[in-house]
Amino acid sequence: MRRKMVAGNWKMHGSLQSNAVLLGGLHAAPATACDVVVCVPFPYLAQAQSCLAGTAIGLGAQDCSIHAEGAYTGEVSVSMLRDFGCSHVIVGHSERRAHHGEADLAVAAKARLALLAGMIPIICVGETLAQRESGATEAVIGMQLDAILHLLGDRLSELVVAYEPVWAIGTGRTASPQQAQDVHAFIRTRAARHHVDAQSMRVLYGGSVKPDNAGELFAQPDIDGGLIGGASLKAADFLAIVAAATADPGTI
Ligand code: 13P
Repeated sequence: MRRKMVAGNWKMHGSLQSNAVLLGGLHAAPATACDVVVCVPFPYLAQAQSCLAGTAIGLGAQDCSIHAEGAYTGEVSVSMLRDFGCSHVIVGHSERRAHHGEADLAVAAKARLALLAGMIPIICVGETLAQRESGATEAVIGMQLDAILHLLGDRLSELVVAYEPVWAIGTGRTASPQQAQDVHAFIRTRAARHHVDAQSMRVLYGGSVKPDNAGELFAQPDIDGGLIGGASLKAADFLAIVAAATADPGTI
């Protein structure tokens, strides 16, 4: 059985003051049968590590360097993330692909470093609106996945893939549960080409997930939880989404 997971991606939001309120609010999270993670900006890792101590909530970062160590000004290595107790790291988010030119091979290499450091990479894939409208969704996602699967095909049960249609991120326009399920099923089929373990690989959905649509999305057979942007910035909304993930008895 795949364990459900809900991860918050704070993106470039927060301050010491507002984080304290948000993280404090997450203490109300019941111990659940679902993995809960918050991925915070680098400067706040220490604060989040200390605020989350004693809870079952995991800590994650939003990116890591492709290098292990060295003269790479501004970069943050996986071992540095481990120093702050990170269990997870997002790699290949569409915002990094679009604004920082991250290519599939670099994303795969980052995911590999994270696994080697004992962390779980949350690897994002997804198509733009133009790609969807031209019927290229599967071709685009297939290519993004193949780079990862070639390198990490034998570690599918450890990594997490997040399907995030670019057109649904921060737009309030969510993929319908059926649209999301179709792509998730495709991702699993594609992974099965590389390894028999595809059934154990978790695939999250991200893109305008809110408390009122989370339940229907998470009830789909191939959706194993969510990667949450805007709604992870309010403790009540994030916890409502966690509750939706644990309410579905199908996959827990
Ligand atoms: P929103 O939930 O704000 O649409 O963001 C999704 C996302 O990009 C999570 O990584």
